[in-house]
Amino acid sequence: MQKLSILGGARLNGEVRISGAKNAALPILCASLLSSDTLQLDNVPELNDVATMRKLLQQMGVKIEANGSQLALSAAHIDKLEAPYDMVKTMRASILVLGPLAARFGEARVSLPGGCAIGSRPVDLHIKGLQAMGAEIHIEHGYIHAQVPGGLAGGRLRGARIMFDLVSVTGTENLMMAATLADGVTVLENAAREPEVVDLAHCLIAMGAKIEGAGSDTISITGVEKLHGANHRIMPDRIESGTFLVAAAAAGGNITLTGARADIMENVLEKLQEAGATIQVAGDRINLQMNKRPLAVNVRTAPYPAFPTDMQAQFMAMNTIAEGSAMVVETIFENRFMHVQELRRLGAQIEVEGNTAVIKGCAQLEGATIMATDLRASACLVIAGLAAQGETIVDRIYHLDRGYEHIESKLSQLGAQIRRIK
Ligand code: EPZ
Repeated sequence: MQKLSILGGARLNGEVRISGAKNAALPILCASLLSSDTLQLDNVPELNDVATMRKLLQQMGVKIEANGSQLALSAAHIDKLEAPYDMVKTMRASILVLGPLAARFGEARVSLPGGCAIGSRPVDLHIKGLQAMGAEIHIEHGYIHAQVPGGLAGGRLRGARIMFDLVSVTGTENLMMAATLADGVTVLENAAREPEVVDLAHCLIAMGAKIEGAGSDTISITGVEKLHGANHRIMPDRIESGTFLVAAAAAGGNITLTGARADIMENVLEKLQEAGATIQVAGDRINLQMNKRPLAVNVRTAPYPAFPTDMQAQFMAMNTIAEGSAMVVETIFENRFMHVQELRRLGAQIEVEGNTAVIKGCAQLEGATIMATDLRASACLVIAGLAAQGETIVDRIYHLDRGYEHIESKLSQLGAQIRRIK
């Protein structure tokens, strides 16, 4: 089990290049299933979750050629329409093959993703949407088995009007992909507005899909007979961007992100300014300066464009050493406070009542051995370690490697005293 050793107290200074967005890359990799032509991608991040998705697609028959952050995917010869449990259990985003397989091949067998640390995370909305489009769905032996009447003999999903009971990012992405090849028009209402949904839509449109309204809460897709190959560059990762900015706000310093996009993280940037940071944006560069102890800031997570749940843990870490008290309210997932226990081991003053945490900033955290529980919680613990006095050991950092490309080398470049230990 790999660990990170962090010596707290160093300020962060310098430039860091932002990688492609994990949560755009994962659905876009699955979009390759929608065409027999080659999908050329650029700026694909080098992450464990991306590696898992590549393996999942390859075991179905997708040919993938990789050259650094460039991938060429060809789904000309798919010989298996299944996402097996042993792969799905390590990455819930595997559910994103369901829509494309049902749309192009009329059949799919996808293991039900288990729960995960942050919540039960059902996929009922994905299933309901496909049923509305004419798929017959049976849940048997832990698998979702989707069949389109007519099956491989050319059965085709049909367009439908689908109202989401609640906003679902991958639910919107799965059904948007399925609708691109359906017969007729599909309208997704109460759709997710996340930038990663928009990036996927841009890629699908480049492949010949007819999509309007991506980025709004109503997306309409007019199905076409087939999609063709395309080139697409994955958008920058707004959560990686936010994570580095919060780290610099907590540890103090002056950092510049390059290859970033400020326009999709306005809420996070405003919160950082509220905490006392100075932010300057020029093109794809975001500069943050923090020369004093941060002020505590309240955050309440909600679907985009509100404050992102994937940034909640990181801001909580900053609040533990901020001036004053703050409230953190998590409205998306039912159990996304796993980092609280670990932060308390560093001396943080946090009280939790239901989905609300109250953090009383203290002047100093003391380094200790702590354990990562999920992807963004692990980033939170790294930030706390950077701000703490003495050495912090973060265990189970395989969670971190799922979503952050070479985080310790990027942080070291900024002056952090951080190293990976076996
Ligand atoms: C996506 O997960 C992201 N993952 C998550 O990022 C992110 O936290 C989440 O959206 C919210 O922004 C990817 O994009 C790969 P949801 P997703 O469906 O799509 C409930 C990270 O750290 N729900 O928007 O799985 C669900 O339980 C990860 O990168 C249903 O009830 O999230 C949750 O409470 C973590 N039924 C809420 O909706 C469904 O069918 C939002 O979930 C689907 C979802």
